[in-house]
Order: sequence, then structure tokens, then C-alpha cells
Amino acid sequence: MRPADAIDRLAAAGCVDPAAEVAEMSRWAPVDVAGWKLPADWVRRRARGEPLPWITGHAAFCGIDVRVAPGVYPPRPWSAELALTAAGRLGEVGRLLDLCTGCGAVGALVRARRPDALVVGVDADPAAAACARSNGLVAAAGDLDGPLRPGAAFDVVTAVAPYVPTPALSTLAGDVREHEPRRAHDGGPDGLDVVRLVVAAAAARLVPGGWLLLELGGDQDVALATDLAAAGFEPAEPWHDADGDLLGLAARRTP
Ligand SMILES: C[S@@+](CC[C@H](N)C(=O)[O-])C[C@H]1O[C@@H](n2cnc3c(N)ncnc32)[C@H](O)[C@@H]1O
Repeated sequence: MRPADAIDRLAAAGCVDPAAEVAEMSRWAPVDVAGWKLPADWVRRRARGEPLPWITGHAAFCGIDVRVAPGVYPPRPWSAELALTAAGRLGEVGRLLDLCTGCGAVGALVRARRPDALVVGVDADPAAAACARSNGLVAAAGDLDGPLRPGAAFDVVTAVAPYVPTPALSTLAGDVREHEPRRAHDGGPDGLDVVRLVVAAAAARLVPGGWLLLELGGDQDVALATDLAAAGFEPAEPWHDADGDLLGLAARRTP
């Protein structure tokens, strides 16, 4: 299909920026001799709402390219700040554990900034763990830190865990609801079911003075404060987007 036709097709399907999506498809499409044809099947799949990274197999994440397998949560641009903050807090030894790693985008960005770091990822979905390995992480499939050896310690723990409150799942974009795995989003009644388990796992895995970095939303920093204190963390530093909405927090394990 010609790019101009693909743009029309995606525009008609309601894509917000069809020209940018077609440009991204063109980047990864197996080109024909004329160099301008896009696989019609790609355009059809995208028009039906399938995430673009599942079609091309790639996502751009803060200047790096990450592989994204079909069915695996595509990384969001706003998660990059968490990764950059993690890279800045790794210290000299540089051991990072990325729980709920998905395709491993957070860990891959940390490795891009700190090539000497050991970056370990875990995800409940074996396809996600395999994808994280393809992005350069040491990654295993399992629940939280379950696959790790007892005593394995880290300087920083990151997690973009599922944190959408179950009642708010219906407010997610239609494409997200229809295509992305519910397990990637559903955080239980207040969105913090898995996050609380991450806090407990991080408390056990972090060295004294190590950092836990979490992506959150709404007023979840307030809701989580008691859990963090009980698990041995100092008062957390939240960060926000340009509109003042919560994006995440950093909490230091008491030295
Ligand atoms: C919102 S996605 C984030 C993925 C990745 N960190 C990113 O930012 O691209 C949440 C991920 O958590 C995983 N997950 C959910 N519950 C889990 C659990 N109990 N243990 C490990 N992974 C889990 C899901 O499979 C999904 O890949």
C-alpha cells in the first residue's frame, strides 16, 4: 500500500497522528524495489487498533529502540523519567532490578546510560521476559522477585507495575482496553495491589540506602506512604508531569 493511502486509511480509522505512524511503519517495513510500499496487512491491523509496536516489532523509547513482541505491553514515553532517575541513582556498583519489566524498556534505557550496570528484569509473562532478554536484560519469568536467588541484592529497584484501579480500567483508551493484557494494567481496587507487593520485595532486595522507584498516578503517593514507612523506607520524593499530575516516586531504603 502506498504511504499516502495508508495515511488516509489510518485517518479514517481515527488514528491521532497517521502521518507519524506511517513514517514509523516505513522505518521497519521490508521495502519493495520501489522502496515505498507498506504491507497492507500492517495498515489493516493498525486500523483495527492493534498497538503499532506489535506490528513493527519496535518502539522508540527516549532515543533508544526497544523490541516489543506481540502481546507485550508497549512502553510509554512518560516511563523514561523513571529510567533516567534510576540510572542517576545507581551508584558505583550499579545493580538494578526491574520488576514487572515487560519488554525491558526501563532496564534497556538504564543500560544505554550505564553500560556497566547489571540489569535484571522479572515479569509474570514468559513472552515479556523473553522480549526483555532480546533487549539486553538478564530476565526471568515469574512472580515479582520469585525467580531470584535468596540474598541477591540491588542498589536500585524500579517497577512500572500495574497501577490502574480496577474501577478506572473502563477509562483507558479503547485500543488499550481491547488489545493490551489486562494484567499489565489492573492494580486492584485502589490500583496498588501489585505495587504493595513490589514495595515488600524491594525492601528485601535493596541494600541499605538503596532506591525504590515506582510509576504511579492519581494520589497513590499519599495512599502508599504508610506501606513505604512500614517497609523501612524514608519519606518518598514524588515527581509530576507539566500539569502537576503524579508520575512516580523515589523512596530510599533507610541506611
Ligand atoms: C504496565 S506493564 C509495564 C511493563 C514495563 N515495565 C514497561 O514500562 O514497559 C506491567 C507489567 O507487569 C507484569 N506483571 C503484572 N503482575 C506481575 C507480577 N505479580 N509479577 C511480575 N510481573 C507482573 C505484566 O505482565 C506487565 O508486563
